[in-house]
Amino acid sequence: MDTKLLKITSSKDTEQIKTAAEILKSGGIVAIPTETVYGLAANAYNTKAIQRIFAAKGRPQDNPLIVHIAEKDTLYELAVDIPETAFALADRFWPGPLTIILKKSQKLPDSVTAGLGTVAIRLPSNEVARAIIKMCGFPLAAPSANLSGRPSPTSAEHVIMDLYGKIDAIVLSDNSEVGVESTVITLASDRPRLLRPGAVTPEDLRQILPDLQIDPAVFAEPEPGVKVQSPGMKYKHYSPKAKIVLVEGNSPDFIRFVNSKKGPGVYALCFSDDAQFLEVPYVIYGKTADEKEQASHLFSALRELDSKSAKIAYAHAPKKDGIGLAVYNRLIRAAAFEVVRL
Ligand code: TXA
Ligand code: MG
Repeated sequence: MDTKLLKITSSKDTEQIKTAAEILKSGGIVAIPTETVYGLAANAYNTKAIQRIFAAKGRPQDNPLIVHIAEKDTLYELAVDIPETAFALADRFWPGPLTIILKKSQKLPDSVTAGLGTVAIRLPSNEVARAIIKMCGFPLAAPSANLSGRPSPTSAEHVIMDLYGKIDAIVLSDNSEVGVESTVITLASDRPRLLRPGAVTPEDLRQILPDLQIDPAVFAEPEPGVKVQSPGMKYKHYSPKAKIVLVEGNSPDFIRFVNSKKGPGVYALCFSDDAQFLEVPYVIYGKTADEKEQASHLFSALRELDSKSAKIAYAHAPKKDGIGLAVYNRLIRAAAFEVVRL
């Protein structure tokens, strides 16, 4: 299939924005930039287009999509029984990297929500994303624009690697600033619950939701047989071809441990301060204690391990507070929950 490449770096690139919207209006699927990661978008009201997203990504049918909107009022089209706290969260964190799960309206097709009675909604801050949604005049369902199981794409090049020839168009825009996917919370359960950590942190959310719970799947592998609240949490995710082992410990201990593992195909996925003492090849994903930088480089670092011939990579675990919790959550999945505590 012929994939169009559309260069759109600002909301003023009107001609190309129109082209992207035309493709979406006619049932096409288009990769668009957002501030978190690139998304693979389709008209949320067009079931055929939604099914094409699942096919292009190889996505399991039971994993629902996030619906992206450009105006807060669109909430009324997509959701019912909206609690006051949803509006408080929207006023505080939208536009931005927060996804809110609410009871679904009848209008939205079941294909988007994988048959669940709830819908995940987000209003992105990326101006190109919002301009495209506005030009369409309908909300866009969009999962991350990677092949299922691969690290999420934080640049147009990552999308090209995974989906060129499989989708109608790819918007060429800036790299995603945040670098990890949005924070996902549900307001459709008895108590508000964090399902996926992101740049909007538990500390931020507790200003509006003092009784916020953190789903156990954020930190650890769901127990067999336990129903996970967010279907995406049960998959081994973000996996590069190399085996990843997450290593928790300070810098000297990490360096000693990794050097003791030296051998063919052995890599470190480390902080810049670890690098000079390592006796194995390495990929750096940020400075020590700069969790924001670690988040923005994590997925490209995982892809870089693939482009080298890494067989196993020992990853230095981040601190678990602030956005570090999101980095830890992605890494522990990349590592299929294999953690070494030093
Ligand atoms: O930052 C992001 O959220 C990016 C950009 C493109 O917006 N999108 C993204 O989509 O990460 P995706 O499909 O890769 O992840 C969506 C997650 C999945 O874990 C899915 O299971 C969960 O959100 N989800 C979606 N709808 C849900 C629902 N109704 N109930 C529970 N979990 C839901
Ligand atoms: Mg994804």
